[in-house]
Amino acid sequence: ETLAIVGVGKGQAWSCASCHGEAGQGNLSTPRLAGLPAEYIVKQLHDFSSGLRTNESMLVVAKGLSSTEIEDVARYYEQIGLPSTVSPGMGGELERGRILAQQGDWKSNVPACFSCHGMSGEGVAPGFPALAGQQPDYIFAQLAAWQAGERKNSPQSLMDGIAKQMSVQDMRSVSDYLATL
Ligand code: HEM
Ligand code: HEM
Repeated sequence: ETLAIVGVGKGQAWSCASCHGEAGQGNLSTPRLAGLPAEYIVKQLHDFSSGLRTNESMLVVAKGLSSTEIEDVARYYEQIGLPSTVSPGMGGELERGRILAQQGDWKSNVPACFSCHGMSGEGVAPGFPALAGQQPDYIFAQLAAWQAGERKNSPQSLMDGIAKQMSVQDMRSVSDYLATL
């Protein structure tokens, strides 16, 4: 179980924990991995490795992992049941964020986040990552990346279309609300 702490992969220079935290809790724009569905983690690592999802650090990290190591590290993070470590700080409005998460905003074609990400944003295996407890800076950055057409690894997720319907303030609000859960 020290797998992720000591680092994995041949010649791996960094451990996951050095960026994602000792317990996989994440830090600012580095996401929480604890409790994410293993299949979701596996997909993201393959996407970083192939360049479908772009990030300089994660390109190097993912390329250094074998398929077996990817499976192992994904299962390791999935089973970590860590209470939320985050709090709001993005300057959003919590009540607006709650409405977006639970009900959506049908007049601007934004569906309820929880219709896919779980009734409390806890995620749904295999493909829907948890949003509750995720770093609010990271959530905001991902929404902005989809809006700008910069995260392109999962067009079937519909996240690009959803983000394009959201104002920057709505992104702040939903990121902050999710950080209260
Ligand atoms: C993102 C896994 C090491 C920095 C991610 C994601 C996964 C992951 C699965 C996507 C999470 C999501 O979509 O919610 C791992 C594993 C590692 C590792 C298993 C060790 C083998 C590192 C290291 C760094 C790092 C060493 C820093 C040098 C980041 C950053 C992101 C990220 C900044 C966000 C990328 C973005 O904004 O799109 N990592 N990681 N990771 N990781 Fe790692
Ligand atoms: C991924 C936010 C609604 C399906 C994500 C991620 C964020 C997010 C931040 C990336 C998480 C990460 O990298 O760990 C939201 C918000 C929503 C919303 C704020 C409401 C405004 C939805 C809905 C669906 C959906 C309604 C289903 C139609 C997905 C899927 C992924 C995802 C499948 C994973 C994409 C991948 O595999 O790369 N969402 N989401 N989301 N979302 Fe949403």
